[in-house]
Amino acid sequence: MDKYIIEGQRPLTGEVYISGSKNAALAIIPAALLIEGKCRIEDVPDIGDVRILDEILTYLGAKVSYTDDRNTIEIDSSCLNNWAAPYEMAKKLRASYYLLGGLLGRFGRAEVSFPGGCDFGSRPIDQHIKGLEALGVKIEIEHGIIKAEAKKLVGCKIYLDVVSVGATINLMLAAVRAEGTTIIENAAKEPHIVDVANFLNAMGANVKGAGTDIIRVMGVSTLRGGATHAIIPDQIEAGTFMIAAAATDGDIVVRNIIPKHMEPLTAKLLEMNIEVRQNGDWIRVISHGGIQKANIKTLPYPGYPTDLHPPAAVLLCRAAGTSMITETIYDNRFHYVDELQRMGAGIRVDGRVAVIEGASELTGAPIKAHDLRAGAALVIAGLIARGTTEVHNIGYIDRGYENLDVKLRSLGASITRVSDDC
Ligand code: EPZ
Repeated sequence: MDKYIIEGQRPLTGEVYISGSKNAALAIIPAALLIEGKCRIEDVPDIGDVRILDEILTYLGAKVSYTDDRNTIEIDSSCLNNWAAPYEMAKKLRASYYLLGGLLGRFGRAEVSFPGGCDFGSRPIDQHIKGLEALGVKIEIEHGIIKAEAKKLVGCKIYLDVVSVGATINLMLAAVRAEGTTIIENAAKEPHIVDVANFLNAMGANVKGAGTDIIRVMGVSTLRGGATHAIIPDQIEAGTFMIAAAATDGDIVVRNIIPKHMEPLTAKLLEMNIEVRQNGDWIRVISHGGIQKANIKTLPYPGYPTDLHPPAAVLLCRAAGTSMITETIYDNRFHYVDELQRMGAGIRVDGRVAVIEGASELTGAPIKAHDLRAGAALVIAGLIARGTTEVHNIGYIDRGYENLDVKLRSLGASITRVSDDC
């Protein structure tokens, strides 16, 4: 893997354009398996996990082509001839579970390895399995592979025990071509769930209620191809840049975003005495120093997003006073804490709470990313630290951020990517 070398204490200024949503793209690409035809997906982020999914669809017999910038993908699933995803590719990412919904909806069969993804402790898929079995799917798990088969998918009512983004989307995919109506209750409401539903409806599906906690899917026999869908901007990438601007006493405009999706973060930044202005499709973040402490509790949307927990912890290192971040979604996404302590941060973990003693000066050090969003947080830490920081294992960051260093350099950061010999 490569590493970043960052010279800190340079405020970010200027404008940055946000890429398409990673977590929408990672669901919409497998959703294309449902379609016996072509679809064109625009504003796709050119990131590692998307490239793996594209390779998997090609392996299954779909024709996948890109524009030069890889931000527009055409997928033709007419000649799909395989429902068994390649084990080694599928186990690399969490989103491979969407292949279950896509392949079951297309063939009534699917063989997909247990998903991979960032290590936050336990990340079960019991709700996916519960919902698929309710739809009439017979599931066996053998040698790390989920073997799923349904003579017929039949619509039903499913109540999710846990508000789960993945299970909500996966069951939506499996229900699109089921017989009758499926009702998913206690559904997740993230913006990318709405985006997936809009894509499916553009292809002839009949999905209603996405974005609320009750989603109704009226099954259709076939989906038409030919439609084009533009993926929504990435809420988490936008939030990462907003936090980086605040942490570096910067002044940036984040363009190509939907301000409503950013409300949980915007509210917190205002609480921390950061100036936030917004309109149409941009938000401007201005930090005049004097950052105030705040307490954050991660919750499903429209609560504060768990994926912006690690970046916020770095920002709170600069706040006056003691702040707390309570992580309610995952057992343990605190891997970034040890790395920040290496930089002199006054941060510790107490159960599911990160306690942050603010106004601690960070000093540059060699640190390493353990997962995608922790990696982004460590980059922000390097941007505010005195001296030089090396962030190792940045392959994790490549999975979810398109050209992060390029975008940061355009905002005045001193960050370079070099090969990592350690
Ligand atoms: C998606 O993960 C995202 N990943 C995650 O983003 C994000 O953190 C998460 O949603 C929450 O917003 C993708 O979309 C690829 P969940 P997912 O199912 O679907 C528990 C990033 O950095 N649960 O909403 O796996 C689960 O353990 C990544 O972009 C069950 O118990 O999240 C967790 O505690 C990291 N049983 C909670 O629900 C299940 O069957 C929420 O998980 C499924 C989930």
